[in-house]
Amino acid sequence: MPSPKAVETKDGAVFTASNGAPVAEPYAAHRIGTNGPLLIQDFNLIDSLAHFARERIPERVVHAKAAGAHGYFEATEDISDISCASLFQKGKKTPITARFSTVGGELGSADTARDPRGFAVKLKTDEGNLDWVFNNTPVFFIRDPTKFPHFIHTQKRDPETHLKDADMFWDYLSLNPESVHQVMTLFSDRGTPNGYSHMHGYSGHTFKFVNKEGKFVYVQIHWRIRGGVQTLDNEQAGKLAGDNPDYGIELLRSEIDAGKFPTWDVYVQTMTAEQAEQFRYNILDLTKVWPHSQFPLRHIGTAVLNENPKNYFAEIEQAAFSPSHLVSGIEPSADPVLQSRLFSYPDTHRHRLGVNYQQLPVNRPLVPVANFQRDGFMAFDNQGWRPNYQSSLIPLTYKKKPYEDAKHELWLGHANVDLSFITELDFEQPRALWQKVFDDTQKAHFVHNVAVHIVNVKSAAVKKRQLSVFAAVDQSLSDRIAQAINHPTVKPLEVPPAEKANRFSLAKN
Ligand code: HEM
Repeated sequence: MPSPKAVETKDGAVFTASNGAPVAEPYAAHRIGTNGPLLIQDFNLIDSLAHFARERIPERVVHAKAAGAHGYFEATEDISDISCASLFQKGKKTPITARFSTVGGELGSADTARDPRGFAVKLKTDEGNLDWVFNNTPVFFIRDPTKFPHFIHTQKRDPETHLKDADMFWDYLSLNPESVHQVMTLFSDRGTPNGYSHMHGYSGHTFKFVNKEGKFVYVQIHWRIRGGVQTLDNEQAGKLAGDNPDYGIELLRSEIDAGKFPTWDVYVQTMTAEQAEQFRYNILDLTKVWPHSQFPLRHIGTAVLNENPKNYFAEIEQAAFSPSHLVSGIEPSADPVLQSRLFSYPDTHRHRLGVNYQQLPVNRPLVPVANFQRDGFMAFDNQGWRPNYQSSLIPLTYKKKPYEDAKHELWLGHANVDLSFITELDFEQPRALWQKVFDDTQKAHFVHNVAVHIVNVKSAAVKKRQLSVFAAVDQSLSDRIAQAINHPTVKPLEVPPAEKANRFSLAKN
């Protein structure tokens, strides 16, 4: 699909070297005579070769391939009963930058790969930056963060062959069946969305919204695309991966250029601590969803993307999103995966972009930043004359969150229980997807999508184990995949009953 080109304008720029001094001829190398060696005094040549050699920064270890755009979030409802965050004041518009990505592939990989899609949004609020680093799926593969590097490695290249490997892929998933809910989504056509502008976004994790009295509710945040979700089938996605690996980037750009601005309605599901105590599933386990029938969606605002980046590297690649970039009125829950992510993202930003990554224009808050951090590479806002320690001579002003002194119950949630302990509870929601949500076509596509992938597994044990995981979801589902790949029927994985699941409760201590 042709992408409308940005309007070409002449801005009167004069060609210069990096020190700003004009250079008359970009190509003319300084040399002795007509065929003699080059001179080291040729700053233009050395400047450009040296800079070129350093053009690449580390690509993101996950979510490397992406597209992005700018826009705004508008708070359309009064939700001051649940959050005191300033961006939620009814009528307020907050500028946003969104970055959508595939997860496993490298920077040059195909946009239509079967993969969850990253759905990261930076909201530049008047109380500092808030990042919502979501996916297009409501659940995730893990609930124990130590599994993340193992899991990701199995989706990447085999260390010996440098090839993606179906055995690694299914070996991990079959050994860690808490992943099956996400696998059900991934191998449905939701795993191959039609570009980035026709999909929902989900926090997956439980967060806490806190009002100015210090009362909190647990929330799940949902971005629902207007016009509904559009997906590709396995064959369309595969063909596009060859014909146009940048399909997702092009579609997003061209829609925005044509004035068809992708628009999401933003909702929250809310739950009190008492309701969480009674809830069948653990709200700190992001392999589970909260049924909408019990916890209905509450509309909080709309989000629109209406501006393409003028420079992809500066405005999207250098963007540094982190679930720990939070503002007053929004707090993390004790979900162990979320807690680990609070650390992991700024850690990777320091590696990928440098210690002063927050000073880059795309990351820089709109509000003034004042603290005691100084120096380091690329410190271009080094806070001038202001003291670099907590000074009584020129003190900073300190501002509390409205609920800073409120006493509210601490939710500890016994998060150190064995997170890999699998029970029948882990299969209920995947089973509901298969039996109640998927129609006949979606079922047929799911079976086909798994079959064409798992048929490449060489290890008989891995194949059998994953079929036993699918049989624990539903015997007929497993049997249909087995039939499609010419494999004998496999019995369900044996697991303890739901009552044995680790229950999370309000901490008494
Ligand atoms: C990107 C770690 C789970 C969504 C990343 C990056 C790392 C990472 C290191 C690269 C960031 C960068 O270079 O800027 C982890 C760890 C996880 C985890 C350690 C679990 C222990 C999740 C989950 C979600 C998620 C559960 C969604 C609910 C994203 C998104 C990006 C990302 C959207 C791309 C952000 C961007 O566009 O720059 N993750 N991740 N991750 N992750 Fe995670």
